[in-house]
Amino acid sequence: MSNPILEIKHLKKSFGQNQVLKDISLSVNPGEVISIIGSSGSGKSTFLRSINLLETPTEGQILFHGENVLEKNYDATTYREKLGMVFQSFNLFDNLNVLENAIVAQTTVLKRTRSEAEIIAKENLNRVGMTEQYWSAKPKQLSGGQKQRVAIARALSVNPEAMLFDEPTSALDPEMVGEVLKTMQVLAKSGLTMIIVTHEMEFARDVSDRVIFMDKGVIAEEGSPKQIFEEPKEERTREFLKRFLK
Ligand SMILES: Nc1ncnc2c1ncn2[C@@H]1O[C@H](COP(=O)(O)OP(=O)(O)O)[C@@H](O)[C@H]1O
Ligand SMILES: [Mg+2]
Repeated sequence: MSNPILEIKHLKKSFGQNQVLKDISLSVNPGEVISIIGSSGSGKSTFLRSINLLETPTEGQILFHGENVLEKNYDATTYREKLGMVFQSFNLFDNLNVLENAIVAQTTVLKRTRSEAEIIAKENLNRVGMTEQYWSAKPKQLSGGQKQRVAIARALSVNPEAMLFDEPTSALDPEMVGEVLKTMQVLAKSGLTMIIVTHEMEFARDVSDRVIFMDKGVIAEEGSPKQIFEEPKEERTREFLKRFLK
């Protein structure tokens, strides 16, 4: 078995007196697709944001290929470029067209040439089904589902080693959810390493290698989709699923 990409050890995060993450440990192997489920306020977003250092953990370690990214002299900027992030709210650059959205980080952050960046952007836009007819459109001309697919292509264009998704379909109209989930399913099959916070239980069951149930700042239970959805061990997992799968 290959070495994990990420090993999160005893991660804690407090906001003032409020301890939101209480000793979380998780290893992520190359190619693994992990879904994180749990009630609102259980700390899922804070966990993802702590993984890519949008939040600074209060305690614990995040090992990336064995090196602790929280060490003072670790190059955290390079680390963050290795993790693509997709948010609920798309966060596209509204003044840039679709193609430019997928180019800009490549030329500014990765210092790729314009022509190289353009080729890679187009490949990834095609990969998420945002084909040539959309490339000159501005985000405001797109549906929510299209915007989210552009956001995914943009994140992929910097060749991340893992992609983090924070409820990527929660802001979408119901009819747009399927196209985004389908895109993510194709990515999962392609061997991309993915950590996905989601309320789409069917998706989590069908696409994940592993499901994490978070409750009040801890990993209350984790296991295969079959184990979590069919034979949950913990009462609080059963309660949560009962509410969601009714
Ligand atoms: N920047 C912040 N400052 C203070 N409290 C925060 C901040 N971000 C999140 N929290 C608190 O952390 C808790 C967990 O939030 P969050 O990680 O967003 O949960 P989830 O994504 O599971 O809904 C909530 O009580 C929330 O109010
Ligand atoms: Mg959240």
